[in-house]
Amino acid sequence: MAIELIKTTDYAAMSRRAADVIATCLESDPACVIGLATGSTPIGLYDCLVEDCEAGKISFAEATTFNLDEYRGLPGTHDQSYRYFMDKHLFDRVDVRKEFTSVPDGADPDADAACARYERAIEEAGGIDIQLLGIGHNGHIGFNEPADSFPVETHLVELTESTINANSRLFEDIADVPREAYTMGIGTIMKARMILLVASGSDKAQIVRDTLYGPVTPRVPASVLQLHPNVVVVVDEEAGSLCG
Ligand code: PGA
Repeated sequence: MAIELIKTTDYAAMSRRAADVIATCLESDPACVIGLATGSTPIGLYDCLVEDCEAGKISFAEATTFNLDEYRGLPGTHDQSYRYFMDKHLFDRVDVRKEFTSVPDGADPDADAACARYERAIEEAGGIDIQLLGIGHNGHIGFNEPADSFPVETHLVELTESTINANSRLFEDIADVPREAYTMGIGTIMKARMILLVASGSDKAQIVRDTLYGPVTPRVPASVLQLHPNVVVVVDEEAGSLCG
């Protein structure tokens, strides 16, 4: 299997170890193309990259980034947009050139155009060198939820009622809660030359195990990573507790 599993002790160690993987990519190719992710898991990793940048160990000055997904209908200035999240946790704190950071354009209502443009931009940048992923409890990566088949390219998804309900607490007006998102497809993710998946906490233990050792099925979208030639999975002790 082409998946390397790295077990660490806790969230801080997982964050540091995963940040080191990205730092190594930046050191060997300062102009590398990095795929990034939102969610709570990568926040500590982004803090580590900020520290490395402040210490002069790494620089994002020549790097290009592409995020996995974005809500449709939210401008990047909205504090629940993924663009806002990335600015806050990483981009505004390192030396990246903002014009070289991309998040799907949630403000563009034309889904076909926005998604095709995103896919093309990744290709024109030479493809993604390393793609960071979190993982949902159901195995979703990006907004690719369990389905009957693996979606290939960047596409429009309808959010599940449970996601919409969970998000509603973050919005003043229920009418503002996004019901749709644009996300890289499984094909987009699988084209990355290297994948870095991070997971933390006992609530992720079962899905990490299913992802690494279960059948490859679109019912567990992350299981497709078993078919990728270069995957590193960094877990803390709890998330890795059902693996070996
Ligand atoms: P989390 O989300 O990092 O907040 O657990 C991961 C995901 O749903 O992709």
